[in-house]
Amino acid sequence: MADYPLKRLRRLRYNPLVRNMIRETHLNKEDLIYPLFVCPGEKVKNEVKSMPGVYQMSIDVLVEECKDVEALGIPAVILFGIPEHKDEEGTEGYRDDGIIQKAIRGIKAEVKNLLVITDVCLCEYTSHGHCGLLDGEIILNDETVSLLAKMAISHCQAGADIIAPSDMMDGRVLAIRKSLDYMGFTHIPIMSYAVKYSSGYYGPFRDAADSSPAFGDRRSHQMDIANSDEAMREAYSDVDEGADIIMVKPAGAYLDIIYRVKQELEMPVAAYQVSGEYSMIKAAARLGWIDEERIMIESLTAIKRAGADIILTYYAKDAASYIDKTK
Ligand code: PBG
Ligand code: ZN
Repeated sequence: MADYPLKRLRRLRYNPLVRNMIRETHLNKEDLIYPLFVCPGEKVKNEVKSMPGVYQMSIDVLVEECKDVEALGIPAVILFGIPEHKDEEGTEGYRDDGIIQKAIRGIKAEVKNLLVITDVCLCEYTSHGHCGLLDGEIILNDETVSLLAKMAISHCQAGADIIAPSDMMDGRVLAIRKSLDYMGFTHIPIMSYAVKYSSGYYGPFRDAADSSPAFGDRRSHQMDIANSDEAMREAYSDVDEGADIIMVKPAGAYLDIIYRVKQELEMPVAAYQVSGEYSMIKAAARLGWIDEERIMIESLTAIKRAGADIILTYYAKDAASYIDKTK
């Protein structure tokens, strides 16, 4: 290979048109999924203290928000519910008149060109804030999986387009796939939170969804942050169980995992830029220590460059506006 002075890498960097021409990674609006939090009431729009620009919204406000999201050209939202009542078994999570089920129907009645994805886990609905049914302080796997399957069916019956289980119980993708197929929802894809770490970056989300565990933590089901081979075991097992899209979460601190999953599985890969990642950028920007727009685009581009096809991000609307502005 030629060396300096024949090779000059700067040649392709002088002219912005040339730079754009050889750019390897492009953020597209089609890549984005916007997370939304839905709560009871009317005309409610509560900003989440630890997540500036993110709101808990009642269904009427949520539907208007979804119209804006659709108009911006973002293809999908993922919904998280804050129920009216929480109980030990998280029953509002799988009731036909639960908050999410009503929200899906509300959106579907008025917004035509938007995918509604639902998060399937019990922690938003249980009084103890754990992701499953408890026996004392132990989370019961198989009993929880049955309820998750019920929840997934009720979401599909309300009109959900994609189901996203985030609980990390063993065998839940297979159970959900079988239940959906049995109920006639063979065409509904599963986007599995396959590689979900037990991460400190979820802190602000638990304020937003009011889902902090009353005791203990999530280490008995979410992954050890130190593991990479185990990520592959999780990803392969979800593919075997019928997952259509594999998610890695969080994103920014796990780019090596995104890369490895994409390279080895050759499947559609989603990555979730989680609440803590968003809030850290917001906080530093508010202090005037970083340029928010640059860091937003840099963090999202890095996630895409690592191998993510799809990015779940609280910055979806800002990123879509940026893409419009710079196109
Ligand atoms: C529910 C769920 C969580 C997130 C997505 N689905 C919280 C958790 O596992 O504690 C986190 C998303 C974020 O931090 O933005 N299991
Ligand atoms: Zn959970």
